[in-house]
Amino acid sequence: MPSLEYTQAETPLPDNLKKWWKESCVYQVYPSSFCDSNGDGIGDIQGIISKLDYIKNLGSDIIWLNPIFSSPQVDMGYDISDYYGIHPPYGTLQDLDELAAGIHSRGMKLVLDLVVNHTSDQHRWFQESRSSVINAYRDWYIWRKPVFRDGERHPPNNWRSYFGGSAWTYDEGTGEYYLHLFASEQPDLNWENPQVPAAVHDIVRYWLDHGADGFRMDVINFISKDQTFPDAPITNPGSPWQTGKQFYACGPRLHEYLQGIGKILKEYDAFSVGEMLDVDDAAEILKAVGHDREEVNMAFHFEIVNMDHGPTDKFAQRKWDLGELKSIVSKWQHFMHDNHGWNAIYLENHDQGRSVSRFASDQPEHRELSAKLLATLLGCQSGTLFVYQGQELGMPNVPQDWPLDNYRDIETLNHWKELTSSNPEKTSLHQSALTEYRLKSRDNSRTPMQWDDSLNAGFSTAKPWIPVHKDYATLNAAAQVKDPGSVYWYWSKILEFRKLYSDTLVYGSFALVEAENRDVFAFVRSPSARSQLPPQALIVLNFRPYEVSWTLPPKVISNPRHVVLSNYPERIGSKLTESGSISLGPMEALVCFG
Ligand code: GLC
Ligand code: CA
Repeated sequence: MPSLEYTQAETPLPDNLKKWWKESCVYQVYPSSFCDSNGDGIGDIQGIISKLDYIKNLGSDIIWLNPIFSSPQVDMGYDISDYYGIHPPYGTLQDLDELAAGIHSRGMKLVLDLVVNHTSDQHRWFQESRSSVINAYRDWYIWRKPVFRDGERHPPNNWRSYFGGSAWTYDEGTGEYYLHLFASEQPDLNWENPQVPAAVHDIVRYWLDHGADGFRMDVINFISKDQTFPDAPITNPGSPWQTGKQFYACGPRLHEYLQGIGKILKEYDAFSVGEMLDVDDAAEILKAVGHDREEVNMAFHFEIVNMDHGPTDKFAQRKWDLGELKSIVSKWQHFMHDNHGWNAIYLENHDQGRSVSRFASDQPEHRELSAKLLATLLGCQSGTLFVYQGQELGMPNVPQDWPLDNYRDIETLNHWKELTSSNPEKTSLHQSALTEYRLKSRDNSRTPMQWDDSLNAGFSTAKPWIPVHKDYATLNAAAQVKDPGSVYWYWSKILEFRKLYSDTLVYGSFALVEAENRDVFAFVRSPSARSQLPPQALIVLNFRPYEVSWTLPPKVISNPRHVVLSNYPERIGSKLTESGSISLGPMEALVCFG
């Protein structure tokens, strides 16, 4: 790829493309691990209420809560048994009202998690559905007859579940299989039955009428499936089960279904972000997030967070390189800007390992610098910014010596079961799986939030449901809020910059500088409304844990003025000169206006 020269966006951005939700920063709260108010070891809604000022002071505008609804918690609330009830350990409807009021009185908004690709097997709909083939709810789920080969019973096709094994479970009672793309306790809803979207619309309206300002929509691009349910091609010859993604990711009726929800969201000017798994084609995602589509505001894609997934499964090893990261970021920045779509910008959430550990360095001497480097990369992109609890402190993955007993996540535990039962002797395989869990297990981001240096990191007075990271005595919110040089205050500065210079940092165009440089990720953001003279910004990120010399190429930025932000405070105020080379410190990040 040749270096891109600075180009000014030709037309100013039409004002109708500016939206409150584009300029917002979303702070994601994982309720069970955020703050425990009543000493049962599980975070809860009152705990969240007690931390609203902390979230507000960081500079967030929206709080997204992972599912808080009634659930047997096979998959941490992504298995809902009642969409209208609150999971009792989290609190009551009254607590939720109080939370919504507390959020709104601080000028923030509340986003809930809408999980409607599947329900819990304990949901009344499924209980009815499985009870008989003639039950009125039978068709609310996806039931198919077994296939018999050589007299043996087999599932209707070879699709693999994301949590291991077949995506179909046989139900003795009625002699048929039901589909579950995730755990067998998470049966997939049948959206082909018009009663299903109608029931979802009721849920959406109900929560918008009861304090929610929008939704994050769980695996929403899976709701429409190819109704012939064909066998998937063999991509993992070592397994009987294959990914069937091409038959359900962005399936035939997806956009019709999304428009049905979108109509309601529009009435309320609500926020929406769709989780879109297993689709890397930006044009496919644009069909849902294009400004005139009225489906969802934006979508999470997985190209970056999957860079270190192996070819057969997530826990296979894969080394990524900076060139890949640069080209993926560049692809989405250009595509959405040029096509009036919108990006959701994130590196962490409850399903991902911590970003310092995966994408930079969590070595003690580099962890803080790395957290600030990644904050700069995220905060200087166009899109709505998502920060996951603890990311604002630079929390790393679980310690290297975490035993398997500490893990709670169904995905990790199922993977271990499958691996050790099919390879009981191969200890080298077991070792490498453990190494990969320490990088990519979802539990890495689910350890309790580290509030202070007291017992259990100030998260709870009781033993937390999942162990606290052992570094909490030095890495915690109280210490960082007191320290103006902390990761917390760096994030806060970034969020302030995005507000002050939104024409550049939120809405501006993107151009990679020196695409071929393998150590340094540099890019320019240019405002579209040049007449108001907002600055151009040059962002330079040294992704190496050692010094790297770098030369500002001529003409990439119209008039380099001063460095306005850096994780090396002594750099701030210095001027970059064209063609003069500078020595970037290990993991150095700088933002220069021009
Ligand atoms: C999404 C959620 C994840 C959950 C899965 C099934 O990917 O983020 O936590 O396990 O969907 O609902
Ligand atoms: Ca509690």
